[in-house]
Amino acid sequence: MAINKLVSSIVATAVLACSASVSAATLKLSHNHDRNHPVHEAMQFMAKRAKELSGGSLKVRIYPDATLGTQRESTELLQIGALDMVKSNASELESFESTYSAFNMPYLFRDRDHFYQVTMGEIGEKILASSEDKGFIGLTYYDAGSRNFYAAKPIQSPADLKGMKVRVQPSPTAVSMVQHMGASPTPLAYGELYTALDQGVVDSAENNITSFVTSRHGEVAKQFSFSEHAMIPDVLVISKISWDKLSADEQKALKQAALESSMEMKDLWAEAEDKNRKYAEEKMGVTFMSIDKTPFVKSVEPMYVELKKNNAELSAIVEEIRKAGA
Ligand code: GCU
Repeated sequence: MAINKLVSSIVATAVLACSASVSAATLKLSHNHDRNHPVHEAMQFMAKRAKELSGGSLKVRIYPDATLGTQRESTELLQIGALDMVKSNASELESFESTYSAFNMPYLFRDRDHFYQVTMGEIGEKILASSEDKGFIGLTYYDAGSRNFYAAKPIQSPADLKGMKVRVQPSPTAVSMVQHMGASPTPLAYGELYTALDQGVVDSAENNITSFVTSRHGEVAKQFSFSEHAMIPDVLVISKISWDKLSADEQKALKQAALESSMEMKDLWAEAEDKNRKYAEEKMGVTFMSIDKTPFVKSVEPMYVELKKNNAELSAIVEEIRKAGA
């Protein structure tokens, strides 16, 4: 076991073993970004507002850097009530509740307004509620911008991806997307990606500018192409077991705090993208490329046809999302 994995698992065991000494309303929240990532700041805001709105009875303690496990491991802990909250994303949640895969369809959203209209509206709420029988409930979404390919060499069309090993999140939709684009998908946890890129285990990855910089991928992949192939929301979820322990007033306070923090994130995100792009260009020597997205869009069109044929229910949600942006 690698030393950092060993340390993580010791920390996780110690933290989880202490649960009994913590008051029932101290909620432990796990996520895989570092403290400089805007989502950490947005969730600190959420924790502060939850405390205020509940008159001090709700406390949220945030554990960043995947110290309590990867997103997948944390979500498994959440299902059995060993952890209270997780900030994951729609890609990772797809394996737990397939409804989330609607968000993972490439070129789904027209723009940021469309994304907000859906995530902060009725459809977004319906998807957050869909996982109740899987042991967790979604509270809110966080902006995670658009995802783009990066590698040592420029990727300007699907032809450039041919033969490349591309790291994807452990999501069947992401795997299918990269296959449709002509490359070989390699599902890996986020924390393993830096080394995988550095050692050539994968040739390319895809993410938003902020995570590309905070995870230091820009040190090992200098060509960033604006393929903007997906806008996959980060999602804040709570264990059903923890949720049911809260009073109705606490549930209301937590939900409101979560929604307010998503609005806080809207500004934080825009600032972070600008700042991180500048940092990548000036300090990491990264080149950002605008490209013609048409061939990428065309390459994944069959995914919509296949979805309609194979999963009418999910396809209907996807169409509802698309119509909301028309
Ligand atoms: C984004 C997202 C994370 C996710 C990561 C990934 O950065 O915010 O939740 O883990 O992508 O590519 O794995």
